[in-house]
Amino acid sequence: MADGAAKARKAGGHWQDVEVRSLLSRAALAVGAGSPTDAGTMWSLPAESERPLIVLGAGVPDPATTPVEDLRAALDHVLSEDAEDALSYGGVLGYSGLREALAQRQSRLDGVPLEAESFLLNNGGAGSIDTVCKAFLEPGDAVIIEGPTFSGSARTIRGHLADITQVPLDQDGLSVDAVARALREAERFGKQVKLLYTVPDFHNPTGATLSLQRRYDLLELCADHRVLILEDTAYTDLYFREPPPPSLFGLSQGQGVLKVGSFSKVIAPGLRVGWVQGRPDFVEALSRVRYDMGISPLLLRAIAEYAGSGKLEAHLEEVRPIYAQKCDVLSRSLMEHCGEYVRFRKPTGGFFLWVECLGPSAREVRQAAALEGLSFPGGDGFFLNRERDDTTHLRLAFSTASLEELAEVGPRLRAAFRRAMGEG
Ligand SMILES: Cc1ncc(COP(=O)(O)O)c(C=O)c1O
Repeated sequence: MADGAAKARKAGGHWQDVEVRSLLSRAALAVGAGSPTDAGTMWSLPAESERPLIVLGAGVPDPATTPVEDLRAALDHVLSEDAEDALSYGGVLGYSGLREALAQRQSRLDGVPLEAESFLLNNGGAGSIDTVCKAFLEPGDAVIIEGPTFSGSARTIRGHLADITQVPLDQDGLSVDAVARALREAERFGKQVKLLYTVPDFHNPTGATLSLQRRYDLLELCADHRVLILEDTAYTDLYFREPPPPSLFGLSQGQGVLKVGSFSKVIAPGLRVGWVQGRPDFVEALSRVRYDMGISPLLLRAIAEYAGSGKLEAHLEEVRPIYAQKCDVLSRSLMEHCGEYVRFRKPTGGFFLWVECLGPSAREVRQAAALEGLSFPGGDGFFLNRERDDTTHLRLAFSTASLEELAEVGPRLRAAFRRAMGEG
C-alpha cells in the first residue's frame, strides 16, 4: 500500500516540469492557449480614475430588464408539470417543444416554412458557430469574415485553423465588392473559400445593417462561388423602430445559408441558449458533431414555456424603446460635447456606437477616458491583427448604462480628448 502511494507520488513528480504548451493541439495554440493571456487588455481599464466609473463595455442586455420573475415562474411550471423529462437526458438536437416554437416564429419572420428539424439548440450563438465550424471546416480552409467583427467568433473560426480573410464594411454593411475581390484572390492561389461569416443586422461592433441590395448581391456571389453563408442574427430582434431588411436565410429560402440566433441579447446571456437554423439535412449533419449530449432540457423547457405564453414578444416590445432611448441619449451627448472630435453613424438597433476619433489615436483617447472614469474597448480588438488594423475607433455599448450616465459620457469624453491632445 505504502509502496503504491510512493509510486503514485513519483509518477506525479514526472509531470511537475512539463509545460502545458508542449502538450497542446495546434488548434489550442492558434487561440493563444498556453501563452500569457491578453484577454483582459481589451476590457480592463488602462488607468485608475477618481470618478465613479461609467461602463460602456460588454454588449449585454440591461440587467434591469431581465424578466427574472417570469423565468422563475416558467422554471416552477416545468418542475411542477414535467420534472421527470426536464431532469433527464434530452437528446442532441434539444427539446422539440422549443424547436417547434422557434420553427413557428422564424417561419413567420423569415417567410420560409420551417419545422422542428430545421433547428439545433446549442450553448448560445457562440456554441452554434463553433458547431458549424466543427462540421464544415477543415484546417486550412479559407473563410471570409468582416473586419471588424465580434472577437468571439473570430477566435472560434481561428480555433478551427481556418485561413481567415477580413473584409471591410461601411454604413451599408459588408462590402460585397470586397468579398468578390477576396474570392478572386483566394482562387488565384487555388483556394476555394468555404464559409462567409456575417452579422448583417446591427453589427457588432459597428452597428451597421446590410442593405437589401447588398443582401441580394451577396447571396448571388456566394452561390456562384459555392460559399456557405453563416448568418449571425444575435441582435436582429433588437431594432429600435423598424425591423432590418429580410434575413439572408429568408431571401435564399433557406438555401446556402445557416442562420444562428440566440436568447442572450433578447432575454439573458446567462441562459446560454442559442440555435442554428438550416436545411434539415444540414442540421442533421451538425447534430452528428455534437458530442456534449445536448444542453439542459430543464432550461429549454422553461424557455419554451416563457416564449410560448407570449412573454418573449411582450418583452421585446418593452425593451426596444429602452435601447432606442439609450442610443439617442448617448448620440446626443456625443454630438453636443464632442462634435469636433468624433464621427459616428447612429445605428437603427442593437447595442453599439462605433465612434471614429478625429485627431488623437483611439488608444490615447481610451487611456485618457479611463482617467475621466469611462471604460470601453478600443476598435483594435475587433480585428485579427490588433496592432495594425485599427487605431481610430472606439466601441461604446449603451445597453447597460443608465440614461443619466449616458448623458454624462459626452462631457467626460470631451475632457478625455482634450487631455489626449495635451489641452486638459
Ligand atoms: C455578433 C455576436 N454573435 C454571437 C455572440 C455570442 O452570443 P451568445 O451569448 O449567444 O453565445 C455575440 C456576443 O457578444 C455577438 O455579439
